[in-house]
Amino acid sequence: MKLWGGRFSRDRDPDFERFSESFSVDQRLIACDLAVNRAWVQELGRARVLQAGEVRSLSRGLDAIGRYVKSRPRWAAGQAAEDVHTWVEQRLEREVGPLAGKLRTGRSRNDLVATETRLYLKSEISNLKSGIRDLLRNLVALAKRHDHAIMPGYTHLQPAQPILFAHYLLAYFEMFARDLGRFDDCRARADELPMGAGALAGTTFRVDRMRLARALGFARVARNSLDVTSDRDFVCEAIAACALVMTHLSRLAEDWIIYSSPAFGFVTLGDAYSTGSSLMPQKKNPDSLELIRGKAARVLGRLTSSIALLKGLPLAYNRDMQEDKAGLFDALDTTRDSVKIAARVVATLRIDEARMKEITALGFLTATDVADELVRLGVPFSQAHKQVGKLVRYCEFQRMTLSELTDSQARKFIPRWSIRLRAAAASPERSVSRRNTVGGTSPSQVARQLRAADRFLSS
Ligand code: ARG
Repeated sequence: MKLWGGRFSRDRDPDFERFSESFSVDQRLIACDLAVNRAWVQELGRARVLQAGEVRSLSRGLDAIGRYVKSRPRWAAGQAAEDVHTWVEQRLEREVGPLAGKLRTGRSRNDLVATETRLYLKSEISNLKSGIRDLLRNLVALAKRHDHAIMPGYTHLQPAQPILFAHYLLAYFEMFARDLGRFDDCRARADELPMGAGALAGTTFRVDRMRLARALGFARVARNSLDVTSDRDFVCEAIAACALVMTHLSRLAEDWIIYSSPAFGFVTLGDAYSTGSSLMPQKKNPDSLELIRGKAARVLGRLTSSIALLKGLPLAYNRDMQEDKAGLFDALDTTRDSVKIAARVVATLRIDEARMKEITALGFLTATDVADELVRLGVPFSQAHKQVGKLVRYCEFQRMTLSELTDSQARKFIPRWSIRLRAAAASPERSVSRRNTVGGTSPSQVARQLRAADRFLSS
């Protein structure tokens, strides 16, 4: 069955039929399709396009299809249709006979598919957001379990300054919290009704679009029928939000791939999220994290193809747009699954606090603290920086840490060396607790961040 057979000969090319079908992809819109159809039938009734009896029969037919689909998880297997909209109309004809032909009065698949994709996206965003909130909760729980652990902070992946492990985790909390906001923004913009826009120009039937919007849970009615039937900005925005989630996840994954390597040894992945080697018996590989990192590339690809799809398209609807859904669905699925696995990796990660502390002592991470103490004695920072730099160079040469220096060795490079400077050099704890500006890594600032995180999660 086709929704457009009249002006065509019977010649069809089965290869092209397969090439052009979207049922294999858009069948997941079935619940949205039925919901929009139900609301549309009601609206056609109110507009006196359908009689009350017709509205009842069509609604009953749609309900029957709903039950059919619900009771068969594999309802779509072996079904042939150009798209999900065609399938529903086909099926409705089996339920209610020729009356089914009235269903598509005053509308087009152009406004229909735009409406359903928006509906679907709105509900998927809720699912994704709840997954991200689980991830955030697990990050906070891990931070609280290790709220005094100190680790080396890196820039350029070179040892920089000591930080609290909880502070490190809360950095990821910030990223994913921003992602939640991006999904909210995206959903708010997607929250307008296309139905009533017809194929491009509106409809001659007097449907009340505001009422239809309310019935379908949309906040507003789209102002311009040409725009809304050909707008897929919301698809690009949603995939962009997914791509940023994945980018953040890939950074976390990369960190922990590195931190779980024995040379670092800060974290140990749960066995359930690691795999072994078929050849090397000793291997434990962080495949969960590697896959998350890899899937980030895939979602980024979906983002570029979604924007490329729209670039240069003439107004209004073009069939190109059918390609939007495979990318959108894949980006949403991949992101949802990656977030779920990441949340579990976080929940089962083991932390080696002693090892982190040991490595913190190695990389001259307190060098800045020594220089800052010199500044407090009145030495210009540029000069302090130079003196401490020379001291570090000497230690590196001698293969010793800052705390192993004798006072006389230190004084050769830093004439004003003192107990205070020695304390600054030797204590990562001191280094951390001194960084007490808002947002800094001191225990009291991190406790404050944790309280803010709790408030965020309970709001
Ligand atoms: N399957 C199509 C899509 O997903 C539905 C709209 C088709 N409209 C059309 N005029 N051929 O975009």
